[in-house]
Amino acid sequence: MRKNIVAGNWKMNKTLTEGIALTKEIAYATSGKNLKCDVIIGVPFVHLASVTELLRESSIKVSAQNCADKVSGAYTGEVSAAMVASTGAKYCIIGHSERRTYYGETYEILKQKVALALENNLKPIFCIGETKEEREAGNQNAIVKAQLEGSVFNLSPEEFKQLVIAYEPVWAIGTGLTATSEQAQEMHSFIRSLINEKYGDTIANDTTILYGGSCNSANAKELFSKPDVDGGLIGGASLKANDFVAIIESF
Ligand code: PGA
Repeated sequence: MRKNIVAGNWKMNKTLTEGIALTKEIAYATSGKNLKCDVIIGVPFVHLASVTELLRESSIKVSAQNCADKVSGAYTGEVSAAMVASTGAKYCIIGHSERRTYYGETYEILKQKVALALENNLKPIFCIGETKEEREAGNQNAIVKAQLEGSVFNLSPEEFKQLVIAYEPVWAIGTGLTATSEQAQEMHSFIRSLINEKYGDTIANDTTILYGGSCNSANAKELFSKPDVDGGLIGGASLKANDFVAIIESF
């Protein structure tokens, strides 16, 4: 059976000191509790080593928010999947719409990143989702299908099993405009049907599909109640321990 997951995506927020303080608050607030989901925090690169060390005894897992599309070498400013893995992080967010839009990450670049993450035993949290214009034109299914085909449907079944998929409609990210639970369910079910066609029933049923986009403590319970919504990728509401823990406890 697939896992339920609540994952935080801190984006470019929090200094190292602030990030350590937030990590401690989340760890304290969740420790000893019988959580109904796995918890991941997606922190900036410079926080990774400190945060994984802090969480060594905790069940909370750590994710990077990106990795390079190259193995190593003369790529000033880049951080490789091997470096991320060497910190003790277990996950890597790949294909976030902010990376696709602001940093020109194409299907091909994302394919390389996913491959390198997997080679280094990182589980990719692979993000897909349509823009407002694409939804208004009724193209959301075609877009999401193309994003999967362009970057992850080349994987072997064994590789694909390592992935977490995050459906994040771009129009819902940071806008306060959450998808309705019906819209989320409809898309998640469609995504699962695509995985089913490509990899079969077992893998489709075992793949965790997260919803992201203005998910918060007020709407998480309703979203997570849908059969194909297996948790959330949380931006803004992951920056305050109380809000994030309330979302975790929505399960
Ligand atoms: P948001 O971001 O929760 O602030 O909308 C979600 C994300 O981009 O992962």
